[in-house]
Amino acid sequence: MNQPLLLAVDQGTSATKALLVDAHGGVVASASAPLGIDHPRSGWMEQSPEDIWDSVLEAVAKCLTGHDPSRVVGIGLSNQRESCLLWERSTGRPLGPMIGWQDRRTVDRCAALRADGLDADVRRTTGLPLDPMFSALKAQWLLDTHDPDRTRARRGELCLGTVDSWLLWRLGGGREHLVEVGNAARTQLLDVRRRDWDERLLDVFGIPREALPRITASTGPFPAARGLPPLTDGTPVLAVVGDSHAALFGHRVFVPGSVKVTYGTGSSVMGLIPGPEHADGSPLCLTLAWDDGTPAYALEGNIRSSGATLRWLAGLLRVGEAEVAGRAAADSGGVHLVPAFGGLAAPWWDNDATGLLSGLTFATGAPQLARAALESVAFQIEDVVAGLDTATGRVTSLLADGGATDNAALMQLQADTSGRVVRRPRDRDLSALGAAYLAGCAAGVFTKTRLAGLTRAEEVYRPRRSEEDRSRALRAWHDAVARARGSAVPDRGEVGTSRGDGRAS
Ligand SMILES: Nc1ncnc2c1ncn2[C@@H]1O[C@H](COP(=O)(O)OP(=O)(O)OP(=O)(O)O)[C@@H](O)[C@H]1O
Ligand SMILES: [Mg+2]
Repeated sequence: MNQPLLLAVDQGTSATKALLVDAHGGVVASASAPLGIDHPRSGWMEQSPEDIWDSVLEAVAKCLTGHDPSRVVGIGLSNQRESCLLWERSTGRPLGPMIGWQDRRTVDRCAALRADGLDADVRRTTGLPLDPMFSALKAQWLLDTHDPDRTRARRGELCLGTVDSWLLWRLGGGREHLVEVGNAARTQLLDVRRRDWDERLLDVFGIPREALPRITASTGPFPAARGLPPLTDGTPVLAVVGDSHAALFGHRVFVPGSVKVTYGTGSSVMGLIPGPEHADGSPLCLTLAWDDGTPAYALEGNIRSSGATLRWLAGLLRVGEAEVAGRAAADSGGVHLVPAFGGLAAPWWDNDATGLLSGLTFATGAPQLARAALESVAFQIEDVVAGLDTATGRVTSLLADGGATDNAALMQLQADTSGRVVRRPRDRDLSALGAAYLAGCAAGVFTKTRLAGLTRAEEVYRPRRSEEDRSRALRAWHDAVARARGSAVPDRGEVGTSRGDGRAS
């Protein structure tokens, strides 16, 4: 019997992954295609729109090798968020590279808007602190470069888009300019409560509405896929969802209560809340997780550099990322690495913070640096989860996913650093799995209740450190963070209030 299959495509920062998922939620096949990142200047981060599309083609073709493409009943797409590109409507030709989410070229523009006092207003409307990570300032930069007086944009000749917009444009044969609402929520142009572009913000950022995509629910309607071999043209695209949001769905968090942590190039900590009003006063961002007929709101904290820190150190030490953990000492010997390579995001949102190594002695070697790098990931995540405690009540367990969760030492370290249980499903590509689940729900292959009832193999890491040790380690980390920020040692209370309100301090 030909059971239906769902194809998930997760377009991430370092690679595009594809998964084939069966009607029992099992992963039948998976494949990955790497994606390059260009840093043409210090702080810039670009990717080629054509390479992104090619990596999708490659991952899908590899994943479907040996499988009957006619069994694929639909596609679910997840994608890196906030990255932004511009193309010509008539030709589909990209105007320059995509500006990546990690790109820092708009830091000065951001500081100027903050100096004008716009931060609180932006945050109230979009749920996000004014920051170069989100798409708005990238969109402004692209238009300033390619259409300085906005004539072409106003005439509707140019298309601004996030990665999902670009992939939907290509999948639909260059006819539909769309954005999924959760992705739109990360542009910093959306009124997150009304779920529509905000006229005032379009004005602030100088973005003509005619250049923006039409907003759609996470379950569409989307154009059917064409030109995605070996699938037949017309295979339906059933779901589109930001990668972080997809991971939450993949962990089967359908109601408020559980918190997930994605350990990718950067990290995202996210939990659902009953409604947007539950984000009021929180140091974390309000975002729209997905809209499958009912909008699901979430609180999220982003960390710019987690897997990227390990990759950076692995490059310096000339080993693979996986070996960083193998090299790590049991103790960092007082060394701290604050990976503020491009400032610090949640909960600090400090673009002036600089990367810092502290506590070096002649006894410091690669093992201590490796340990400090791993600890920096765990400490940063704990700082964000602590912010969630305030909003949602004590978070007792973390659901982990993403490339760096391959690292068992990091998972144990997270449990020890946080004093919380860490659960890591054996299937680590939860962004892709979540996109497949959402597509499957749209196709009637799954229901949320059935998904929630599926048994799943997982590793469980339990905290082993005394509360006293844990607090001492966190205090020493916060001393290092304060040095990276060039400020006095922060009071822990500030993490949840003034420091985390999105204002540079
Ligand atoms: N065994 C490992 N130990 C530590 N880190 C690892 C390991 N394997 C992969 N990583 C890290 O995981 C990251 C890649 O993870 P993943 O594939 O989830 O990211 P991505 O999807 O490309 O990025 P993002 O989701 O942030 O857009 C890399 O930065 C890499 O350093
Ligand atoms: Mg990813």
